[in-house]
Amino acid sequence: MPTSTENSHARRHQTEAFPTASRTSPNPASKNGDSSPPRDLFDTPDEDESAGTAHAPAPVVRHASSAAPTVRCPVLSDGAQMWRLARDSGELDVNTPYAYALLARDFADTCRVATIDDEPVGFVIGYRRPESAATLFVWQIAVDPAFRGRNIAGLLLDGLVRDLPDVTTVETTVTESNASSRRLFGKFADRHGADLAESPLFAADDFPDSHDAEPLLTISGLGR
Ligand SMILES: CC(C)(COP(=O)(O)OP(=O)(O)OC[C@H]1O[C@@H](n2cnc3c(N)ncnc32)[C@H](O)[C@@H]1OP(=O)(O)O)[C@@H](O)C(=O)NCCC(=O)NCCS
Repeated sequence: MPTSTENSHARRHQTEAFPTASRTSPNPASKNGDSSPPRDLFDTPDEDESAGTAHAPAPVVRHASSAAPTVRCPVLSDGAQMWRLARDSGELDVNTPYAYALLARDFADTCRVATIDDEPVGFVIGYRRPESAATLFVWQIAVDPAFRGRNIAGLLLDGLVRDLPDVTTVETTVTESNASSRRLFGKFADRHGADLAESPLFAADDFPDSHDAEPLLTISGLGR
């Protein structure tokens, strides 16, 4: 799935197809054992934290709750938070807020949000391929950085395919350098006893901007 080039360039050294990824950033949840009350979930940064980014949208700083995540279909009003999660992901090409609202409304069947204390902390957006309804294309998946490393993305993918029993194949594209995402889809394939194959799809020069190639991952033979 499209990811921002600046970040993926920074991580380009990780070129093994399915590396045993080390954690590229600490997990505040496990590191701090933080059990902050829910009201701290969406603290906005103070002036010092925002210094130097006066013209950039300030990322929302969240403190991880230890509450268990819930996975559900999105509703239109989730679109704004899905957009924020994409914006703050550090990896994804950010679509318009309109696009996330549209997906939440019209493609809720093939999208999911993960909530903690009723607040979205992760999302997956996808669609059935028009020429092959049994193939689910996963367009974007993201988890709030404060909640990464807790298998929330895995829960999103598992919840999605559990609710779509006729889907036998999952496709996505992942840049070579996105080790976390490759681990995610590798583990997902393993959990479902599926085959995972990689093939070229989008070359860098298929994109009008500076963008890494996006090889296709095909996960077929999904078991439930
Ligand atoms: C990819 C992503 C959705 C995974 O979400 P997640 O809920 O953390 O998934 P998991 O807990 O299963 O962890 C997957 C891998 O991420 C890495 N990881 C673990 N903790 C992490 C952390 N705190 N920060 C960053 N990466 C971490 C590890 O490689 C982990 O694999 P492992 O558990 O086998 O070591 C998340 O890292 C993310 O939102 N990334 C930015 C957006 C993105 O790249 N999306 C995919 C585009 S193709």
